[in-house]
Amino acid sequence: MITSTALDPLELRSPTDGDWEQIALLHGVSFGTWNHLDSFGMFRSLVADDGAVVVCDDAAVVGVAAYFDMQLTVTGGAVLPMAGLSMVGVAPTHRRRGLLRAMYTELHQRIADAGYPLAGLTASEGGIYGRFGYGPATMERELTIDRRFARFHSDAPDPGGVRMVLPAQCGAELAAIYDRWRRRTPGGLARPQTLWDDYLADREDDRDGGTALFGLLHADGYALYRIHGSETKRVRVDEFKAVTTDAYVALLRALLGLDLMETVVLWTHSCDPLPYLLTDSRLARTTGYEDDLWLRITDVPAVLEARRYQAELSTVIEVSDQFAGSGGRFALDVRDGRARCTPTDAAPQVEMDLDVLGSLYMGGHQVSALALANRLRAADPTVLARLEAAFLSDVPAQLGYGF
Ligand SMILES: CC(C)(COP(=O)(O)OP(=O)(O)OC[C@H]1O[C@@H](n2cnc3c(N)ncnc32)[C@H](O)[C@@H]1OP(=O)(O)O)[C@@H](O)C(=O)NCCC(=O)NCCS
Repeated sequence: MITSTALDPLELRSPTDGDWEQIALLHGVSFGTWNHLDSFGMFRSLVADDGAVVVCDDAAVVGVAAYFDMQLTVTGGAVLPMAGLSMVGVAPTHRRRGLLRAMYTELHQRIADAGYPLAGLTASEGGIYGRFGYGPATMERELTIDRRFARFHSDAPDPGGVRMVLPAQCGAELAAIYDRWRRRTPGGLARPQTLWDDYLADREDDRDGGTALFGLLHADGYALYRIHGSETKRVRVDEFKAVTTDAYVALLRALLGLDLMETVVLWTHSCDPLPYLLTDSRLARTTGYEDDLWLRITDVPAVLEARRYQAELSTVIEVSDQFAGSGGRFALDVRDGRARCTPTDAAPQVEMDLDVLGSLYMGGHQVSALALANRLRAADPTVLARLEAAFLSDVPAQLGYGF
């Protein structure tokens, strides 16, 4: 048992095998969904060693939080071990009494002890995780295309090479393409076979009212989609990964060629060139814009040195972490795209909280916009401009999959 005066008389500890039935119930209640038992078992199998905690009120499990052992690609292609926080829930009978804070304090101690340089999560609500040093690092945009009127511009390539497939029958090809995609894309995550098996099982309760998955396959990419609606049919793209521009355009042409469908809806990164491929760019409407991966950088020097940069930089940054002491003052020197980051006593030129550094890390947010909001402060505006140029990402960041 881990004692925490804040929780007294509740008990915070690692779960035993006998707790998992109650954890599945708590998880279902917290998110308002029933996970298929096989899916829940698969999620449980991904939890890192000693990577879960529960809070118990007598025999009842009233809080749970866990982390998965994940591999995250960062800008430039390096792959870092990441603790992926997930399965976080507190019973409605015990909310706002500090259970999440107590579980996060314990889990982040374990994450630090295990040596993870960074932790990540996807957030159910935007107001919770900044206080724990997490900032939204990748953003995604929903595009809705009225395909009945969409025409490709005469300049748009037409590479071809797409075939129709049943996704469950080409799992190995999909996994191989995904793996190439994730190694070159900041935000890409290694995807264990168990996750592929679970996804391609394509269970009725994962379809959100749509059909079973359809697949379009190219040698360097794939699009998996469902059809929603009966009178008016909509294509909802579930997953679209392209390693080359040819694969991207060829798959898009196939999707927009689905004659009887009215709209095509897909989530993509914020700089997607899709509107420029059309003669009427207004037909690709932005119908959603959301944060995706949130990052907490636990080892600032190691993480800043792992990525590549787009411009030279020499500055001193002061990073504050109210939650777990990962902040400090660092000299950051970038030459030829590589950084040296070392603790220093020199006067800081830029100050920010740790969540802001998480937001900057993959180039998904503008330094200048964060400075206007006073989330990042520098007396010399030229430092801001250099920071902005350096932290851009050559490949737009995109999260591999939700977890
Ligand atoms: C979100 C949830 C885990 C919070 O648990 P909780 O035990 O009530 O949270 P705590 O009492 O420990 O609160 C911790 C801090 O977060 C804040 N917080 C909690 N929920 C919040 C919310 N929905 N929005 C904004 N702030 C929130 C608290 O005010 C508190 O702030 P402080 O410690 O700085 O004063 C719980 O409401 C829940 O299970 N929700 C449904 C499932 C879910 O959303 N899980 C998270 C998946 S990412």
